[in-house]
Amino acid sequence: MRKRIRLHQVRMGMYVDELEGAGSLPSHVGPILSHGDIDRMMSTHAISVVIDTQKGLDVDQDPPEGREFDLVRFSSDLGSKFSAEQIQRAREAIQDTRPSVRDLFAEARVRGIFHLDAAYKAVERIMLEAMTNAGAMIAVAKLKERDEGTFLHSLAVSALMVTFGRNLGMNEAAARLLGLGGLVHDLGKMVLPIELLRKPGKLTTDELELIRSHPVRGYEMVKQLEGMPEAVLDICLYHHEKFDGTGYPNGLMGAAIPQVARIAAICDVYDALTTVRPYKRAWSQAETIETMERSQGHFDRDLLKAFISKMVINGTIH
Ligand SMILES: [Fe+2]
Repeated sequence: MRKRIRLHQVRMGMYVDELEGAGSLPSHVGPILSHGDIDRMMSTHAISVVIDTQKGLDVDQDPPEGREFDLVRFSSDLGSKFSAEQIQRAREAIQDTRPSVRDLFAEARVRGIFHLDAAYKAVERIMLEAMTNAGAMIAVAKLKERDEGTFLHSLAVSALMVTFGRNLGMNEAAARLLGLGGLVHDLGKMVLPIELLRKPGKLTTDELELIRSHPVRGYEMVKQLEGMPEAVLDICLYHHEKFDGTGYPNGLMGAAIPQVARIAAICDVYDALTTVRPYKRAWSQAETIETMERSQGHFDRDLLKAFISKMVINGTIH
């Protein structure tokens, strides 16, 4: 609902739709996320402000802290970057893939194997939606509630890899392999204890070692399926390798790491950092990219540059 308020009533967490009487001064319209946003708003000397209480807080609501604030920011960000129709379509696409991916993970957990058909079905749906609505799908999947975390991370990495592959000029068959690899890259985690995966604090050396066994476990699982493409195996096994050789499991260096796994490493970290989770603040896209660029030796620099120009700067993902 649109509501007119006085300038001094503007608070963090509100969504500003319109500034009235601000003259020709540059105006801030959109979510109010920082004290800087409020300062800029005050400097316009607008007479009144119109807020949208569906996209942000109302006047009588307190500015929330921490996670709640992240949720406000998350929904106002979504609303300001994508149309209601794009968001709705993204939600439907995620909904469509949920049953097959859930079965896939459950099977992996119980039987240590999965049906390739279910995985391909989900990848086809992701590829179709990513063709016209990749940004919204990846953005909607950022909000990860407890039980949905693995599913949404796998879906987001899959969508990021498909889109990045396409933007790199790969054909649909190659993009499909990236999508499948993204979907199953962390399958090895399914055979690890759930409590360990959900442990929020610091991990012991033994626990860390167990977590670090997931690429090999996933690879072993995926390898059992007949006709599994090499690219998918490489993504499972090598997505935690680092360009300078300090990654795991094999400490491979540079071009010795298959290109598909170098692509997976970028998409995996990008989604992990931008995710809104119950126990940590989500990073903005700018913070995430800055951190990834500063993370010396982790990523293939040429691919990271391509990711920034072909995915971020051109506005494919927000
Ligand atoms: Fe992983």
